[in-house]
Amino acid sequence: MTIVRVRQHVNPLSAKYQEATAAPDWAQIYAHRTRPLHLDIGCARGQFLLAMAQAWPDWNFLGVEIREPLVIKANQDRDALGLSNLHYLFCNINPSLRSLLLPQSLQGASIQFPDPWFKRRHQKRRVLRPELVADLARCLQPGSLLFLQSDVLEVAAEMRHLVGEHPDFRPQPHGWLEQNPFPVPTERETLTLKAGQPVYRCQFLRC
Ligand SMILES: C[S@@+](CC[C@H](N)C(=O)[O-])C[C@H]1O[C@@H](n2cnc3c(N)ncnc32)[C@H](O)[C@@H]1O
Repeated sequence: MTIVRVRQHVNPLSAKYQEATAAPDWAQIYAHRTRPLHLDIGCARGQFLLAMAQAWPDWNFLGVEIREPLVIKANQDRDALGLSNLHYLFCNINPSLRSLLLPQSLQGASIQFPDPWFKRRHQKRRVLRPELVADLARCLQPGSLLFLQSDVLEVAAEMRHLVGEHPDFRPQPHGWLEQNPFPVPTERETLTLKAGQPVYRCQFLRC
């Protein structure tokens, strides 16, 4: 058995992650290409999408993750279940989103428990930057929802602020959400709730 060491974190600003990942041939990826597509950014081991793809079989799901060994394993888990509405892609989403997806090709997106990068000098490594908000606005169809959650209030508030500043997004509702609108928690969410810690969630309508 080969043991693959999975790094705890990778620096998304390092040179090797700056190239945009090219779009695969989507027609080869999903059995029904025209179904609505949900993008989960930073999907890690992909267990949230693995459950969502079974709970919502009329949707397609795309998980993107910067740690390649997790993506390889997640696609193996998908294949073991024979799911044709789910794909995991190794990429740094920041330089890649524009080349990956066409304008208005998404009907939903989520960023859940992104790496907080607590140290001030590391904060520029956080995944949600104004450029990514603009790329999400471009890729999301009007009427679709962007869901954000974190166990770190500062990170959740920063995401809420950045998206709220963009003219194409409207909070839905205003303030924090009481409940997760999805039927499945992420791995990090399960750990946080088990530890009795709060989760800060918000949602935006692409208007
Ligand atoms: C703390 S984990 C949360 C995983 C999962 N969303 C959950 O809630 O259980 C954040 C994930 O985002 C990934 N990530 C961080 N920056 C990224 C980037 N720029 N592009 C793609 N994935 C990224 C990390 O490798 C990590 O797996």
